[in-house]
Parts: sequence; C-alpha cells; structure tokens
Amino acid sequence: MARFSSNSFVRLFLSATGVVASLTVNVDDAASVKKAAALVAEDLMSFYTGEVPGLLPGPPPEGDYYPWTGGAIWAAMLDYRSRTGDTQYDDKISQGLLWQRGSNNDFLPANWSATAGNDDQAIWGMAALAAAETGFAGPGVDNLKWLDLVQNVFDEQSSDARRVANGSCAGGLRWQIFTFNSGYNYISTLANVAYANLGARLSIQDGKNQTQAKSVEDTFNWLQTSKFIDAKFNVYDGASVPECDQVNRVQTSFAAGLAVEGAAVMYNATSGEKKWKNILDGLVQRTIDVFFPDGVATEVACEPSQCNTDMTFFKYFLHRSLASTMKVAPYTTSLIQPVLKTSAQAAVESCTGGDNKRMCGLVWSAHGNNHTGAGPQMSVLGALLSLLPVETAVNASNSSSSTGTSGTNNATTSTAGSSEPSNSNTPKNSGARSGVSAGVVLGSLLLASFALN
Ligand SMILES: *[C@@H]1O[C@H](CO)[C@@H](O)[C@H](O)[C@H]1NC(C)=O
Ligand SMILES: *[C@@H]1O[C@H](CO)[C@@H](O)[C@H](O)[C@H]1NC(C)=O
Ligand SMILES: *[C@@H]1O[C@H](CO)[C@@H](O)[C@H](O)[C@H]1NC(C)=O
Ligand SMILES: *[C@@H]1O[C@H](CO)[C@@H](O)[C@H](O)[C@H]1NC(C)=O
Ligand SMILES: *[C@@H]1O[C@H](CO)[C@@H](O)[C@H](O)[C@H]1NC(C)=O
Ligand SMILES: *[C@@H]1O[C@H](CO)[C@@H](O)[C@H](O)[C@H]1NC(C)=O
Ligand SMILES: *[C@@H]1O[C@H](CO)[C@@H](O)[C@H](O)[C@H]1NC(C)=O
Ligand SMILES: *[C@@H]1O[C@H](CO)[C@@H](O)[C@H](O)[C@H]1NC(C)=O
Repeated sequence: MARFSSNSFVRLFLSATGVVASLTVNVDDAASVKKAAALVAEDLMSFYTGEVPGLLPGPPPEGDYYPWTGGAIWAAMLDYRSRTGDTQYDDKISQGLLWQRGSNNDFLPANWSATAGNDDQAIWGMAALAAAETGFAGPGVDNLKWLDLVQNVFDEQSSDARRVANGSCAGGLRWQIFTFNSGYNYISTLANVAYANLGARLSIQDGKNQTQAKSVEDTFNWLQTSKFIDAKFNVYDGASVPECDQVNRVQTSFAAGLAVEGAAVMYNATSGEKKWKNILDGLVQRTIDVFFPDGVATEVACEPSQCNTDMTFFKYFLHRSLASTMKVAPYTTSLIQPVLKTSAQAAVESCTGGDNKRMCGLVWSAHGNNHTGAGPQMSVLGALLSLLPVETAVNASNSSSSTGTSGTNNATTSTAGSSEPSNSNTPKNSGARSGVSAGVVLGSLLLASFALN
C-alpha cells in the first residue's frame, strides 16, 4: 500500500480546495475545534432516543445498533466533556452508564448479556474507566466507584472461565462469553487488546497494580506469540481454536488503536522500559501506515467496499487512542500529531449530509458525504477531540464522590458463569448475534481481499 512519510502534500491539497462543508474547522485553533465538536456531538446525540436508557435504538432488526455502541457513545461523550468543558450531557451519560451496569455491576445486564462478547463488555468497562479517568461525578449508588465497575469487568475477563483452556492458544480470551453463541471458538484480537487496554489503564488508576500490569504483559506476549500481532506490528483480527494457526488477516483500526494505547500506558507505567518502547514504536508506526493513507483515517478493511454499522464507529477509537498515546508517551507526538490534524480536517469536510447539511460521513478520503449515522458521527467527534488536550478541571470539585472512599464494593466479584442468563434470554438465533467484531468475522470472506500484508 501507499505509504506517506510526509503529510505536507495533503495539507496543501486541503487548504487549496478549501472547506466546502457547512461545518468548518481550523484544526490549529482549539476554540474552532471545540465549536465544531459541539455540533458534531449534538448531532451524535440526536441518534440517542433514550427509550432504553444507555442504548442506541436496536439491536437489529429493531434498530441499527448493537448494545456495545451504547458504551462507546458514553465513552465518547465523556471524552467530549473532559476536552471541552461542556457538561450539558452529564445526566444522560450518568443515567446511561448506570442503567446498563447490570445486577452484578459488570455491564452484563440481563436484557442483552446472552449475546454479549468479551469485547462488548470491555467497551462498557472503558466507558466507566473514562468516567474515573476524567473525574466524572458518581456513580452515586451502592457505594460504588466507577473503578469498581471496571475492575469487575477486568476480573471476570481474567478468569479461566473466559479463556481457552488448552492447546496452542491456551490462555487467549475468547471472543464470546457463552458457549451457545457462535464465535465462542473464535479468539478475537479485539477482545484481547480491549482487555489489555482496560487493564493497563486500570492498573495506573489503581496505583500501579502489579497484578493487572502482569496480566497486560502476558496478553501482549500471547498476542505476539500467537502471531495475532505479527513481527511488523500488523494487528490481525483473530483465529479459531484449537490451533489458532489460521490467522484472519483483516485489520481494524479499533484493535490497532486499543493496542497502541495499551502499549503506551505500559511504556509510561514502566518509565519507558525498552520492551514497551519497542512495541509502542512498532505499533504507532504501523498503525499510521495502515490506517492513515494520505494522512486521512480509513477503515481499510471495509471502506473500499461497504462497512457494516459496527465498523463505522471504529475510527473514533483510532483517534482517541492515538491522542491518549501522545499524552503518556510524548515522544510519539511528532509522528502522531500531523496525521490527527490532516485526518480531522478531512473528517469535518464529510459533514455535509442530512437535513441540517452537516451530518458527517464515513469515507473521509472521498472528500464527500457517505453513510451518515451514529458511527460516522462518533468517529468525526473522535478526530476533533484528538486535537484537544483534556481539561482536567471539569467540575473537579463536584466529582469527589468518584474518588472518595467507596466502602464495600457491592459487586460480587462474580465468575463468568454467575452472569449466565436464564434460558428464556437465550437468543433464538445466536448465529446472527451481536458483537463488535461480528461483522469483521462474518464478513471476512468478502473482506479477505483487502487484508494487508
Ligand atoms: C430491558 O428491556 C426493557 C424492555 O425493553 C426496558 O424497559 C429496560 O430498560 C431494559 N433494561 C436494560 C438494562 O437495558
Ligand atoms: C454536581 O454538582 C451540581 C451542582 O453543584 C449538583 O447539582 C449535582 O447534583 C452534582 N452531581 C453529583 C453527581 O454529585
Ligand atoms: C447492593 O446492590 C443491590 C442492588 O442495587 C442492593 O439491593 C443492595 O442493598 C446493595 N447492598 C449493599 C451492601 O450495598
Ligand atoms: C481441551 O479441553 C477441552 C474442554 O475441557 C477438552 O474437551 C479437550 O479434549 C481438551 N483438549 C486437549 C488437547 O487436551
Ligand atoms: C489489583 O488487581 C487485582 C486484579 O484486578 C485485584 O484483585 C486487586 O484487588 C487489585 N489490588 C488493589 C490494591 O487494587
Ligand atoms: C508519562 O506521562 C506523563 C504525563 O502524562 C509524562 O509527563 C511523562 O513524560 C510520561 N513518561 C514517559 C516516560 O514518557
Ligand atoms: C462515497 O462517495 C463517493 C463520492 O460520492 C463515491 O464515489 C463512493 O463510491 C462512495 N463510497 C461508498 C462506500 O459509498
Ligand atoms: C458543573 O456541573 C454542573 C452540573 O452537573 C453544571 O451545571 C456546571 O455548569 C458545571 N460547571 C462547570 C465549570 O463545568
């Protein structure tokens, strides 16, 4: 694939063609970025009806969106809030996270736990983690702290019950939680990097928890040994048991982004240990090379043809993770910052759709509007937010409850089985189940020709 060592061409091209969207942005001006982000966030929230608190309308065929996207939205809105100081969505964020936390405080509520994958659960965990990281007030129930929810997710996913017991991919975190779901025998890279990302970030919030740090290190070792992340730092989609030797070479910006950020946090937590620097160097460079052709973020596995709804959200995580990486590993800034700018510029130019003529599109490199929806909206928001530093003082005085002593952790540190839903909840057609990477896996035959070397 084409590799761009310099983005100056892109920048020239963009400034020469000007911004044609009704949404405009000067990517070098924080006030301008915030203004654009406010509109994009507002349009993102227009997809949220709140009919079921915390979830976008769905799941298919009732609506476009699977439950994991709810967690994704709240993570994004917390990000938005902490980078702009706009607190108008606080109640919705709070209500959404709490409503979906489940009776075990592990984000497996009975309504959709039967179809949940480890990746889905981890995304919700990341939303709670974002709440903790940004000092968001709450949760305000059951003496909980946001981190308690995160730790419940992490601990469940650390358990043997969620993992491959034997054979050459022993230890890998399965894609699906429940045996009756198709995909139980698929070991998804996304699930494993989401776990590692969550664990790395949790470990530093918990005051350098070495148990968590060790699990993260083991996961990266496993991913590399299993060649899910190869020697060139391509992050592939996953493989099936028992041998995990037929690695599905589709690459998503979601998995790559979460891997980069996880490695960056470990790099920082180990004060720049060489092992982590090597991994981080490789992942940052390869992620930019693969997912930012010509400096514009591209979901390479699907944009050339058609992305499913899940995949339209992925570029949010790509930008967010890279922005976070710059923060904890400042030496990467010179590599990352330029592509975030060119990408955000192109992203905003796609926001010309819908009745309001500013709904965002998916294929930013086309410099036009394609495929509007919550996913493209959230991805463009991520691109804009990646240009803004976190405003640490957003309602800090108000958020003492999230850092105060929590007393007893009401959550049962449940084993995976304890969340197992009753049979009545078992989906009739588990083959059509949800899952972040469902589309990637099920569509992999179609997509195989786009897999990169
Ligand atoms: C479960 O589904 C019911 C019926 O749609 C809804 O009222 C309730 O809010 C849902 N709960 C969760 C946690 O999604
Ligand atoms: C945050 O502070 C505001 C204003 O002081 C208050 O109304 C609100 O209830 C507080 N939120 C929480 C969760 O404590
Ligand atoms: C734990 O949570 C449940 C459900 O919200 C609640 O009924 C119970 O009182 C809580 N227990 C403690 C010890 O806080
Ligand atoms: C691996 O574990 C499964 C489930 O316990 C068992 O059915 C299978 O025979 C084991 N395979 C090997 C190679 O030990
Ligand atoms: C460290 O992490 C482990 C695994 O998540 C957890 O069981 C333990 O309580 C944590 N320790 C502290 C001090 O938070
Ligand atoms: C770790 O992160 C902090 C701030 O987030 C930064 O100041 C520091 O330089 C980082 N450490 C390394 C080794 O880059
Ligand atoms: C996106 O829009 C461009 C320009 O209108 C078009 O050429 C391209 O086929 C569209 N791509 C998709 C995936 O719809
Ligand atoms: C703090 O939060 C309250 C309510 O959540 C809000 O009304 C107020 O504007 C916030 N203050 C700042 C500085 O953002």
